Amino acid sequence: MLASIKTNHLTNEGQKLGMMYFRVAIILFGAQLLLGLVAAIQFLAPGFLFEIIDFSVARMVHINALVVWMLYAMIGASYWMLTDETEHDGVHIGLGKLAFWILTAAVTVVVLVYLIVQVGAGTEASIWLIHEGREYIEAPRWADIGIVVVVLIFYWNMFATYMKGKQTGIMTVMIADLLALAGLYLTGMFFTDNISMDQFWWWWVIHLWVEATWEVFVGVLAAYALIKLIGAKREIVEMWLWIEVLMLFGSGVLGLGHHYFWIGTPEYWWEIGALFSALEPVPLVAMFVHVLYDWGKQQGAAKERGEAGSVIVNGPAMTWIVLNAFGNFLGAGIWGFFHTLPQVNIYTHGTQFTAAHGHLSFFGAYATILIGMIYIGVQGAYGVKRMKATFNSKMGVFLTAFGVMGMTIALTIAGYEQVLVERAELGATWNAFFVAQELPWYIQGQLWRAIMGVVTLAGFIYLTVDLLTIGKKAQADEAAQAA
Ligand code: HEM
Ligand code: HEM
Ligand SMILES: [Fe+2]
Repeated sequence: MLASIKTNHLTNEGQKLGMMYFRVAIILFGAQLLLGLVAAIQFLAPGFLFEIIDFSVARMVHINALVVWMLYAMIGASYWMLTDETEHDGVHIGLGKLAFWILTAAVTVVVLVYLIVQVGAGTEASIWLIHEGREYIEAPRWADIGIVVVVLIFYWNMFATYMKGKQTGIMTVMIADLLALAGLYLTGMFFTDNISMDQFWWWWVIHLWVEATWEVFVGVLAAYALIKLIGAKREIVEMWLWIEVLMLFGSGVLGLGHHYFWIGTPEYWWEIGALFSALEPVPLVAMFVHVLYDWGKQQGAAKERGEAGSVIVNGPAMTWIVLNAFGNFLGAGIWGFFHTLPQVNIYTHGTQFTAAHGHLSFFGAYATILIGMIYIGVQGAYGVKRMKATFNSKMGVFLTAFGVMGMTIALTIAGYEQVLVERAELGATWNAFFVAQELPWYIQGQLWRAIMGVVTLAGFIYLTVDLLTIGKKAQADEAAQAA
């Protein structure tokens, strides 16, 4: 991937910029995992790195890096697809490149401040210069404003190119979705000292991102990738996409109510949240069926033509995208549904069960398909027609997925113990919280999570090595075949 800077076969500036975003995404993904491991070890040995990188700091960097690398990969995928779908070279891409460097410099400064300065006095200055303390989107105010400017440039690139180029269904959904996605960021930017009000708006960003706008974005990516990778018919994938968009927004928007059960909002949210969030797994099933159905159909068609092998032009990308169909359904659909009814959530709220769901859903629904898009980018950058999975690709996908699944199971067991002992038996008192954390099921759960975290990191190392080398290997294979 790094070599793709020099031996770039891309003539298209939009796709070059997409690759720049992909590279930073992978670096931040690595940082996310390292800080996650620090936090995981602190569950077992609370003194680990005490007063150097405290748990609160490690956790903050872990989940902020998560959100930022995913946004980078999404912007990268958008630039990648833009010029391909619209058949237009892109409007003002040079400005987009400048925005990339500004954003990347700002992200670097923010991360360094998180790690070095860490906390400040309870004053306005801390909100402006250190961090805002809103989980997942903690960037200080100066960076918030910078992000808005950069995103406006990005959106201008998207919108103006779309208006000038070919307007496919896939691009239309993307342009509309990006506007909603970017606009929602604004709801997490203002300050209020009323904690209920703060949480009310903060969930607009977090929930309406991951359960509405980001999911629609994944639908767009899956539609595009299926056309590119297996030659799926555009009419069919676009039809699926419109159905998915309808269902995702139909359930996801009011599904927001499942975060309004206990934060001081009116009680009617119990019914609204229960009903609409319980419907959320439906579109996730549709997305699952969509990917597997198109794939199966394409395989059948290949067999009919007497082709022995598959028709997949990018093995690792397809693997990650099929994994996305499973992961999205399991992590968001199943693990989400488990705790979404208020009758259940009153026991599970804020336990390790929530963390189990958070890990499997973010990984299954987003990490997977974004990694798939990065593989598509690498294939394009090296200009190869066919890219087969290597040993590293297989180890990368297997160990990462196995590790995250392992962490999820370990956390689910720890969460189950909290529900039974802390919540049901001891009545959710302050003391009960600590008692439950001393019990063997909880401690063993945390131990297994740390072990599976190391497995995940090993998978990530294979993945990175693969991204850096697979393009060259595919080029060599192609040259050998031509000779
Ligand atoms: C890909 C989509 C999804 C992602 C990335 C995701 C991620 C998360 C994360 C990270 C949290 C914890 C937030 C916190 O720090 O407090 C959370 C909470 C929650 N999620 Fe999801 N989620 C997704 C989809 C769903 C779906 C489809 C459902 C329901 C069917 C659901 C139900 C819930 C509930 C009820 C909570 C609150 C847990 C609590 O009370 O502690 N999620 N989600
Ligand atoms: C090396 C592997 C990893 C380790 C050791 C790890 C560890 C941790 C730890 C210790 C926390 C804090 C939990 C708490 O406050 O109780 C956490 C939170 C979180 N991690 Fe990870 N993590 C890893 C990988 C990942 C991956 C791959 C993802 C998603 C793609 C992810 C997403 C999250 C999320 C969303 C939260 C917040 C959950 C919540 O508040 O409910 N982590 N992680
Ligand atoms: Fe939600």
